[in-house]
Amino acid sequence: MKNYHIAVIPGDGIGPEIVREARKVLDQVAKVYHHTFTYEELLMGGASIDVHGVPLTDETIAAAKKADAVLMGSIGGDTTTSPWYQLPADRRPEAGLLKIRKALNLFANLRPAYLYTELRKACPLRDEVIGDGFDILIMRELTGGLYFGDRSTRQVDGKWVAEDTLTYSEDEIRRIAVRGFEVARKRRRKVTSVDKANVLDSSRLWRKIVEEVASDYPDVTLEHMLVDNCAMQLVRDPGQFDVVLTENMFGDILSDEASMITGSIGMLSSASLNETRFGLYEPSHGSAPDIAGKNLANPIATILSAAMMLRYSLDLDQEADAVEKAVKQVLQDGYRTRDIFSEGCEKVGTDRMGTLIAQRIQ
Ligand code: IPM
Ligand code: MG
Repeated sequence: MKNYHIAVIPGDGIGPEIVREARKVLDQVAKVYHHTFTYEELLMGGASIDVHGVPLTDETIAAAKKADAVLMGSIGGDTTTSPWYQLPADRRPEAGLLKIRKALNLFANLRPAYLYTELRKACPLRDEVIGDGFDILIMRELTGGLYFGDRSTRQVDGKWVAEDTLTYSEDEIRRIAVRGFEVARKRRRKVTSVDKANVLDSSRLWRKIVEEVASDYPDVTLEHMLVDNCAMQLVRDPGQFDVVLTENMFGDILSDEASMITGSIGMLSSASLNETRFGLYEPSHGSAPDIAGKNLANPIATILSAAMMLRYSLDLDQEADAVEKAVKQVLQDGYRTRDIFSEGCEKVGTDRMGTLIAQRIQ
């Protein structure tokens, strides 16, 4: 029996309701496997702006650092109507997320895109394209590139000019590449490194360093792919991919695309890790303010993120397996939230989905 301390950031929009369901599942894990999870709720994003005027305070960062791991829902609101978006860019909800990623040095973002056989009908691709299905792991660099480069908006000769800079150092590329090859060894031993080396200097350096790292992993196959081609290949033949290794912005875009072909963006979990066991776990999707509080959101991505937390930060593999199996079981039993619904299944809301998954952990 062990005690784990988990920082929980429900956030905005559907965040609180999906995190509630993930906690329900974790509580069941605790009961069955005789652990205790203590939770400490922290404010981030719009929820923090409403209380503190900023999307992330130093106290919150310090509290997150002290925990064994952080479980997060989602942050942000409707960008056209929410007052949060009247604030300067560095005080809007998303700035909190970027700040915590940087402050905790969470450079490795793992986003698994796996097609459950039960969800074939929810996948927008044609049957012959799906083939035997796919199991992709996107390894996205998370603390560099365009997201963290210098930026400015200024006037030049009376005209507005805006600038964002894309910078990568060889050390930043090397450490994420190592992660990509390490995880490939536990999978099907193939890394597709995605860049735009036909245009960008940062991509040419990326390619060079990835090749250097690859020489330490002769048992792993490396291929390079340009990002535009990768966007196309994901919907042409997703089964070809194992680990997709890529920089921050490309990973942001490709992971949304990959999630859609798993049936719904509501299925894609993620882990953001640093050099230690510590990590922040969140669904890859956003806060969906349009359906917030309506019991419509799919909690599975958050529940699967909690499973990743059990596996990577708490070293509880058996418990993580149990959660993943329970999710599969619920899908097999025909329960679906609205986003993954297909004819012949039973439609359930957010809370019922969480309960059904928790019940299957025994
Ligand atoms: C994601 C999100 C974030 C990102 C936003 C909310 C800043 O889209 O985690 O993919 O772009 O990284
Ligand atoms: Mg994104």
